[in-house]
Amino acid sequence: MTDTETRGGPVFRAQGLTKTYRMGEVEVHALRGVDLELFAGEFVVLLGASGSGKSTLLNILGGLDAPSTGTVECRGHVLTGAGDDALTRFRREHVGFVFQFYNLIPSLTARENVALVTEIATDPMAPDDALALVGLDERMDHFPAQMSGGEQQRVAIARAIAKRPTVLLCDEPTGALDSKTGIRVLQALERTNRETGALTVVITHNAVIADMADRVIRLRDGRIESERRNADRASAADLHW
Ligand SMILES: Nc1ncnc2c1ncn2[C@@H]1O[C@H](COP(=O)(O)OP(=O)(O)OP(=O)(O)O)[C@@H](O)[C@H]1O
Ligand SMILES: [Mg+2]
Repeated sequence: MTDTETRGGPVFRAQGLTKTYRMGEVEVHALRGVDLELFAGEFVVLLGASGSGKSTLLNILGGLDAPSTGTVECRGHVLTGAGDDALTRFRREHVGFVFQFYNLIPSLTARENVALVTEIATDPMAPDDALALVGLDERMDHFPAQMSGGEQQRVAIARAIAKRPTVLLCDEPTGALDSKTGIRVLQALERTNRETGALTVVITHNAVIADMADRVIRLRDGRIESERRNADRASAADLHW
């Protein structure tokens, strides 16, 4: 993708997204018409009650799932209806995911977990550089079982950003962590967002985290209920909960 394509327009443009799950007689309306634009380099926090559709929306943006109706464009390329191969390529080239549970491979060191991804990426960072970016310079040769939950999550972040994704999608990245460890993970996201310029979207139940965002989007019952822009971004180190 060239600079000309990235300048100006949004990275993501979602229009009229709905997602309906049918379970026998019952229909669950996970998304009921979401319009959304996300811009390069932004740090976006996505809030909303359990069941409001946050994960569904994130998975659709990241090409893990398809909407029932509506369209998603990433840098002008239409993802919806693109087919499985195209979606796999899109995810591989452009999307980093971070989930609540770190999904590291237990038999591989931190460096090897990151290298698994960089080996198949087009223009990756060196695994050591990605690990340094999340403050794990000293832990490259440790196995997941030798690291705390927060450290493992930072390995997962290093793995996700090492391929220099267009977008980093994080679903409850601090959900399993205490506040001190959670803040270190948020500092890692703050730094990777600033230094790599990856559009970063973070789902959380913790409204305090919204203070570190450029933009805060709140979902309710499958719709965007409200949106606000922070005049200043709080630094993760100054958050308390
Ligand atoms: N695979 C599925 N099959 C059926 N219903 C689903 C499926 N995935 C999600 N849902 C339903 O869609 C709605 C939205 O779910 P989603 O996981 O997007 O919510 P969420 O905002 O991420 O919630 P949480 O904060 O609990 O993670 C919920 O009512 C959920 O039960
Ligand atoms: Mg969820």
